[in-house]
Amino acid sequence: MGLRSPIPEFVEHAARDAVFGHSADHHLDGKTLESVRAEVDADHFAGTFNGMNESASWWTVAAVWDQLFPLRQARVNMCASLVPRGGALLDAGCGTGSLVRALLPAGVDAFGFDLDPGFVEQAKLALKTNSDRVSQGDLAAIETVFPVKVFDAIVCLGQTFPHLLTDSDIASFLEGASRRLKPGGALVLQVVADRDDRPDRTLPDLDAAGVRLQRRRILTSSDRAELHLVATNGLGDAAWKVEHRRWTPESLMAVAARFGFARDVVWADESEKPWTGAEPGWILVLSKD
Ligand SMILES: C[S@@+](CC[C@H](N)C(=O)[O-])C[C@H]1O[C@@H](n2cnc3c(N)ncnc32)[C@H](O)[C@@H]1O
Repeated sequence: MGLRSPIPEFVEHAARDAVFGHSADHHLDGKTLESVRAEVDADHFAGTFNGMNESASWWTVAAVWDQLFPLRQARVNMCASLVPRGGALLDAGCGTGSLVRALLPAGVDAFGFDLDPGFVEQAKLALKTNSDRVSQGDLAAIETVFPVKVFDAIVCLGQTFPHLLTDSDIASFLEGASRRLKPGGALVLQVVADRDDRPDRTLPDLDAAGVRLQRRRILTSSDRAELHLVATNGLGDAAWKVEHRRWTPESLMAVAARFGFARDVVWADESEKPWTGAEPGWILVLSKD
């Protein structure tokens, strides 16, 4: 899968040199986060390619992710409401770590991990002294991340859980998540805009911080969809695609039940409005038996 491709060396060097100045500790050396992001992004696109490229992936837009997909306060509130005060929450597939950053001041003992080294680097940079609260890890190996912690809640938000394609990866995630949760803990899985059965659909372009992200969603079978992405910033463009597994709350619940999860509620979105079946996406809240 494209997401497992290593971050290209030139991006890694640009990021390491600009952000960390060859040292392992996370100092900005007088640069602002924005200037570092701009440098890394410019280097990244200047050295990049036209057309589909094997190594392009979500990291392509890691530097501007928070502007393209701003964290919604409703998501922060929903997550804070899932744990007791001071409770521990793990954001599985945390992207830039924006949720972890927002939950810490709300008194949540928040951690996150992501497969993508570009995102993890962004997250560590932004978390500053809390940089050890994010790490690189695979959803399918959730059992191994932050191994000494047990959590009151594990959340997997945005279109993240559907990146798991095989039955064995899905089983590893659900089994591992169950082991990492306290009894009665919550596992929260979001699926975005999956109900749409149009075979080929262009999603609205997203524009932020000089980057345009074009997205096209193609149904490839009854339970698979491909998202084709093109990011452009005036210096070049990069294209990649990701494959998603399609779910309904019922099909996902049936699998989760095999790993000791019970259905609590299905919300339409982070505002905790009940899902009626008509909304394109949903959030399944499960509790560990
Ligand atoms: C659409 S983004 C959503 C990010 C974040 N949860 C949000 O809502 O902003 C999907 C994320 O899933 C991560 N991801 C995909 N497959 C993964 C895997 N097997 N393990 C961990 N993270 C994964 C990607 O790197 C990316 O950060």
